[in-house]
Amino acid sequence: MKNNFPQLSVSILNSDMSNLTKTLNLLQKLDIKYVHLDVMDGNFVPNLTFGPAVIKSIRSKTKCILDTHLMIQSPQKTITQYFDAGCDIITFHYESLKESDIFKLIKLIKKHNKLVGISIKPPTSPTKIVKYLNYLDLVLVMTVSPGFGGQKIITSCIKKIQILKNLRDKKGYKYIISADGGINEKNVVEIIKKGCDLPVIGSAIFCSKDIDVKIKFLQSLIK
Ligand code: DX5
Ligand code: ZN
Repeated sequence: MKNNFPQLSVSILNSDMSNLTKTLNLLQKLDIKYVHLDVMDGNFVPNLTFGPAVIKSIRSKTKCILDTHLMIQSPQKTITQYFDAGCDIITFHYESLKESDIFKLIKLIKKHNKLVGISIKPPTSPTKIVKYLNYLDLVLVMTVSPGFGGQKIITSCIKKIQILKNLRDKKGYKYIISADGGINEKNVVEIIKKGCDLPVIGSAIFCSKDIDVKIKFLQSLIK
């Protein structure tokens, strides 16, 4: 799935949740292809957001690719609900399940014709996921500690993007590289230069005065 990158994946976490249809329509109008959905369970991360029921409603309102970021403990226990909800990309956290269950979960997600990603928290080295890279469609580098939108980027995480790009080039892997947390107009160009295909941006868009203008500006920066 290496086409037309870089692209923005817009995280709706800090958008007006009572007005999702309006937001989704705006994103589609502005030619946003990826909507990033942050699922939090109040356990793997301290915050609680939404789950499959809301995703199903979102699915019915948009043609965008649903880029689902599961920040939930033991995702293998509830994963089928995300297949049914209509997610397109399902990314789970390396740290959220036993190592011995990871290959099984990758296979299950693929069997349901979904794209599969693994995300790593700031303290986790990319070396931990090397054995899975050949099977992944996406790797998500967390550039903040997962749990909340609107945090400041942890700049030391950016080098992991380059490490993953070098590994992909060297070994011929196919995954796209995404990065998530604290990305804005000041750092997105650097992140893309390191090799990020799909920067996730939430609060820089939804906490701005004019969402429309901000998205267009970010799109112009990454082209
Ligand atoms: C953080 C989430 C992010 C967040 C986006 O746990 O995974 O996707 O919504 O980050 P900001 O708001 O920093 O752009
Ligand atoms: Zn996210």
